[in-house]
Amino acid sequence: MLTAYDYPTARLLDESGIDVLLVGDSLGMVVLGFPDTTHVTLDHMLHHVAAVARAKPEALIIGDLPIDTYPDPDTTVANARRLIDAGAEAVKLEGGIRQAEKVAALTAAGIPVCGHLGMLPQRVLEEGGYKKKGRTPEQVEWLRDGCQALVEAGVFAIVLESVIPEVAAQLTAELPVPTIGIGCGETTCDGEVAVVTDLVGSYPWFVPPFAKPEADVSSSIRAAAEAYRRRVQGP
Ligand code: KIV
Ligand code: NA
Repeated sequence: MLTAYDYPTARLLDESGIDVLLVGDSLGMVVLGFPDTTHVTLDHMLHHVAAVARAKPEALIIGDLPIDTYPDPDTTVANARRLIDAGAEAVKLEGGIRQAEKVAALTAAGIPVCGHLGMLPQRVLEEGGYKKKGRTPEQVEWLRDGCQALVEAGVFAIVLESVIPEVAAQLTAELPVPTIGIGCGETTCDGEVAVVTDLVGSYPWFVPPFAKPEADVSSSIRAAAEAYRRRVQGP
């Protein structure tokens, strides 16, 4: 799974055989220039989901429900429907037990749901940073209970973010749905997700420690712009 936020990137990733395109609320940071994902609105998401959907990818399109758009089951279903109408085929939201009722309402409404547990970026302000999860027995229990609640509510997969590798592997072995890891160490989960700008090196100002860039797009853009400037202005 890779994130995608626009038409050309979605088309290129799809042509590369990526299984799932996530229109993540990470777009708040890597596309819109906000400091974190707490500034993202449903309108932002709709705009970008629609752009990705216009690529008509073979890949599954998942759209994130941003912060404050899933306060109760009815609002959650109404907002998720808008993401689906914009072209998402499934939605993702953050959290475990406290989201179970909303996930159940979504699945009952025929909307496929992907869970997201571990580090929850929409709660970064309360938590005071991006921290690893699963270091204490209490955290492991919280993760396991959260996963269980999501599974019972009907999620088809769970993203695990920044869960220590041993715990991510344990949960992956226990759960009946696929886990999709980010920052959990490689090969501990059933699948992997990466933020596309981390993968292609197009957002050089913040690169998470677990990112493995396969390209250096920011250097290519700077070099192309400089070459253009020289050509137009003269040396
Ligand atoms: O918004 C996002 O890109 C995500 C992934 C990091 C899982 O939620
Ligand atoms: Na997200």
